[in-house]
Amino acid sequence: MLKRQNACKIEALSFTADRLTVTWGDGHQSVFPSIWLLHACDNPICGSSETGVRLVKLTDQPARPQILAARSQDGEAIVEWGKGHVSRFAPVWLRGHCLSNAERLRRQPAAEPWGTEMKDRLTYLSYGDVSADADTHLTFLEALRDDGVVILQDVPVARERTEEIAGLVGKLHLTNYGIFELEAKPTPEIVGDMAVALELHTDEPYRIEVPSITFFHVLKQSDAGGESTMADGLWLAARMAEKHPEEFEILKTVNARHHRILKEGRVFDVQAPIFPTDVYSRVSGIRINDRGMAPVDCPLGQVEPFYDALRILLEMIYSGEGRVTTKLKEGEMMVFNNQRLLHGRERFDPARSHRHVRSCHVDLDEFHSRLRVAYRLRDDWNAWRTMTTMAHT
Ligand SMILES: [Fe+2]
Repeated sequence: MLKRQNACKIEALSFTADRLTVTWGDGHQSVFPSIWLLHACDNPICGSSETGVRLVKLTDQPARPQILAARSQDGEAIVEWGKGHVSRFAPVWLRGHCLSNAERLRRQPAAEPWGTEMKDRLTYLSYGDVSADADTHLTFLEALRDDGVVILQDVPVARERTEEIAGLVGKLHLTNYGIFELEAKPTPEIVGDMAVALELHTDEPYRIEVPSITFFHVLKQSDAGGESTMADGLWLAARMAEKHPEEFEILKTVNARHHRILKEGRVFDVQAPIFPTDVYSRVSGIRINDRGMAPVDCPLGQVEPFYDALRILLEMIYSGEGRVTTKLKEGEMMVFNNQRLLHGRERFDPARSHRHVRSCHVDLDEFHSRLRVAYRLRDDWNAWRTMTTMAHT
């Protein structure tokens, strides 16, 4: 982590007509093009893009604005454009927006994959502490970011409280399922309504926007079976990359296809790679549900290689590589990122005891927002000022 004191101290500043170069106290150099600086100006003439009230159109500004003068003053970077137009940039803000490859990569940290060892280091937190104490709330959000899963304990065993507890992350994103009641139903429509075992999968991969932060609120656990299983999609990706690099490449680049028809009259059908990647070609998650995978729609020559690669991945998943099993108790809530983790469930016996879990989702936007707000409250510049999320990666 960068030390704020040096990293955000302007040591030297120089400029040409279309570039500002800042040398920082830790020796790092940042270069900012003039159009970038002018577009970022938030003086009263230009307005504030943070609140959506920029007052100047980009198209009304020159494509290559000329910096007439630049200096460091009271710790800030001052840029003069002429006709009294002056932009001021706070050093913390400027360093947090450095355009060097190293700093840009630092703003997109990769999560650390985990395997079966997660069983011994799963984060358990008390709902009371997370909801009442800001530090514990941040611990909760960070564990969700870093591991993709947290288990809350001592949550109210009350049906009407699910939404409120999920509010620890943000506002619900209700899909066609609403808050879903996972219990053995007499006339099941989906496997979630049954008591059968569910192999590891991600939910709703047949959507363009796959549900992300997912909550399993356990109101009643079965006496016989019903253990929860999970695995890290990033770990499976790393394992495939190591053992089967060619097949891994196929699952990153060839679109798998998932579909779902619901009795109520909805038809979903979406293509996307099983392992999505970000702009740095790093795997950013996983989308896979063998039970709902449609025939692949790809060039003829890729069909068999795709199924061969998929077979390798599914064999890994079904054989339990990287799988963690835990039995959630009444009054526990499993919170996980469905765009990263696979989850499943062992079969249970509905004749012996009832099992009732309520499930709902909150979008990643809400999650990242909560994290930024938490860091902002602490004035943790290294976190919130540099936290920008890449969509669709
Ligand atoms: Fe599921």
